[in-house]
Amino acid sequence: MELKKEQLEFIQQFKEITENKEYCKLKAVPRHGSTNTFDHSVRVAYMAYHLAKSWGMDADSAARIGFLHDFCMIDYHKDDGTTHNGRWYCFYHPEDAVENSEAQNFALTETEKRAILTHMFPLSTRIPNSKIAYLLTLSDKTVALQESWQNAVDAFARFREILHLSPKKAPVYVRNREDEE
Ligand SMILES: [Fe+2]
Ligand SMILES: [Fe+2]
Repeated sequence: MELKKEQLEFIQQFKEITENKEYCKLKAVPRHGSTNTFDHSVRVAYMAYHLAKSWGMDADSAARIGFLHDFCMIDYHKDDGTTHNGRWYCFYHPEDAVENSEAQNFALTETEKRAILTHMFPLSTRIPNSKIAYLLTLSDKTVALQESWQNAVDAFARFREILHLSPKKAPVYVRNREDEE
């Protein structure tokens, strides 16, 4: 899976979020080893939007919570437990996402906030309570799995290189825009 032309066009529909200066800082926050939080969120929003459309749900709302669900500036790879009273990233980043969204005046309904707060289910104890919340957690897990898989594939290819085995390139499942330039 790569950030495709359709996804780049898709983000134009949500410029209020995707061109916001604070939000764009997510491009510098790594995610799942193979990507950054901005691109991850685009993939989640894109998937949530299309699932919502085909299931007769509010697609714009699904996209918005997809974009905003990980709006947290902490790089969890470097989280040493010194922020957020030592709580785990898994538990606090949805709260940061809601807070940061509100600080940028991105309007969220109570249902949307609750969906963001529960998107780590079942890894966190907060349980989704709406269809759109389940749709968000499903989209997030699916995209995260694809990105993590890409990370594993890349690591295996590097390992082969180190061992001077086949020079074959690793298949690409997730590609960032920078890779295409
Ligand atoms: Fe998350
Ligand atoms: Fe996520």
